[in-house]
Amino acid sequence: MHAGARRDGRFRVTGSHGRQLLAISDLHVVYAENRALVEAMRPNSDDDWLIVAGDVGEFVADIEWALGLLRDRFAKVIWAPGNHELWTPRDDPNQLRGEARYRHLVELCRRLGVVTPEDPYPVWDADGDPVLIVPLFVGYDYTWRPPGTYTREQALARAHETGVVCTDEILLHPDPYPSRDAWCRARVIQTERRLDAERGGLPTVLVNHYPLVREPTRVLRYPEFAQWCGTDLTADWHLRYDTRVAVYGHLHIPRTTWYDGIRFEEVSVGYPREWRRRASPPGRLRSILPAPARRPA
Ligand SMILES: [Fe+2]
Ligand SMILES: [Fe+2]
Repeated sequence: MHAGARRDGRFRVTGSHGRQLLAISDLHVVYAENRALVEAMRPNSDDDWLIVAGDVGEFVADIEWALGLLRDRFAKVIWAPGNHELWTPRDDPNQLRGEARYRHLVELCRRLGVVTPEDPYPVWDADGDPVLIVPLFVGYDYTWRPPGTYTREQALARAHETGVVCTDEILLHPDPYPSRDAWCRARVIQTERRLDAERGGLPTVLVNHYPLVREPTRVLRYPEFAQWCGTDLTADWHLRYDTRVAVYGHLHIPRTTWYDGIRFEEVSVGYPREWRRRASPPGRLRSILPAPARRPA
């Protein structure tokens, strides 16, 4: 752990008696190799918390297995849903769709003792520097359109032309909302209301499956895919809600970037065919707090 010091008045590096707030996402435990990675995940201390930023899996039983195993090992587990949790695969015995599936997963998490976006936001308090940990469920609304397209319809048509169409279009049902983007807009309004009412002036760690700003999607190999990756409606949340760290996944491009001086952590494991190509070992938990000693230049 680093000695207590405050850098640029915002990022505090503290002696936190060895406690860490850790994060991971995109476990995709339908793959045996990824299940093995989850089985190997352990805290560094008995007091570590773990953020799981979505895409644990598609099958309710798989999600329960992974979150239950992690809950047994970490002092607290905080979950935000990914698009894969919200799929209704034809071969899942649980055929709930849309909002009903989400609510079912929230109840499952509550039985396991896992914190969801519907629960009171936990406070991470290291050395008198409390930070509100906010798991979010805010989706996408097709506003991150490919170049030269100006409407949702044009963006989707371009995706179909190029063959880059997210499987959500088939398996992620928005019921009872008329569309996935309508569901997203409703979640944005509900979440803003709740944050405005409950934040109490605390700084935040915002945890969403999707990046809150569009910039991380600029490096996607297929720009058509960005329309399934977030919404312009959250573009200023990291500034509005005094965010220390924004945690996300979904892109399967693990890295640390800075926007408006705020640290964004993409913490995904991804598919075996993706992590096998990377130099770094797969499944390593990222330290969210305490903050790293040095901000990269
Ligand atoms: Fe994923
Ligand atoms: Fe995802």
